[in-house]
Amino acid sequence: MSTPKRELLVVGNWKMNPPTIAAAKRLFLDIHKRLGTRPTSVRVVIAPPFPFIGGLSELSPSKRIALGAQGVYFESEGAHTGEVSISMLKSVGASYVIIGHSESRARGETDLDIYKDTQQVLGHRVNAIVCVGETERDKAGNYFTVIETQLRAALRDIEKAQLQYLSIAYEPVWAIGTGNTATARDAEEMKLFIQKILADECGRAAVGKVRILYGGSVDPDNALDLLSGGIDGFLVGGASLRARDFASIISTARAHARSHAA
Ligand code: PGA
Repeated sequence: MSTPKRELLVVGNWKMNPPTIAAAKRLFLDIHKRLGTRPTSVRVVIAPPFPFIGGLSELSPSKRIALGAQGVYFESEGAHTGEVSISMLKSVGASYVIIGHSESRARGETDLDIYKDTQQVLGHRVNAIVCVGETERDKAGNYFTVIETQLRAALRDIEKAQLQYLSIAYEPVWAIGTGNTATARDAEEMKLFIQKILADECGRAAVGKVRILYGGSVDPDNALDLLSGGIDGFLVGGASLRARDFASIISTARAHARSHAA
């Protein structure tokens, strides 16, 4: 299922946490309970480590919390030790995949890998969250070129019908896990820049279909300010491992969505 553009999207990236399936289930159920049952205009996704996806998916039969994967391998099957395919992820309940996270790029993932992953995920009509971000901000604005290069590489060859499954997460590497966030203005400026490249690569209609998320030290104290810059949701790392903080970010997003619907 794709996410209608009017919904905000809040994704928890648990990275390599928590240590056991029992702890993962406790955390998931704690978040689930805090979200309540009312339908809202915020789509919530949790991306746990691969081995936990199936078990957690069974705890959310109504998909009130959708499950995501933190990566995928672009081949369909075969002799690829240690890798996981998109069909495998779908079969255990994942409906989102994070692609090109800076921590995966730092381990050697290339723009070409990210292009192939994106093609594979969208080709299976699974939601792709493609991450881009600069390692540092220089006064000359060279970081825009970094973002543009990453985007143009990932967005090639996307078909119009696939755009509904695509989100882009702007995650400046200097903001990830550091407690430093981009300002709401920076996030807004980057959203407009990303939309310009998106329109150029995928056509103007893409701008109305593709969500632009922000990630990097999002927490309950800065969520509202960041949303006021006009971004369409968050990719949350550290704070998504604390049920109370993650639920608080989601409730801020819900209030923001309500105030803008009114
Ligand atoms: P952070 O991580 O919220 O802990 O900064 C974000 C991410 O890496 O997706």
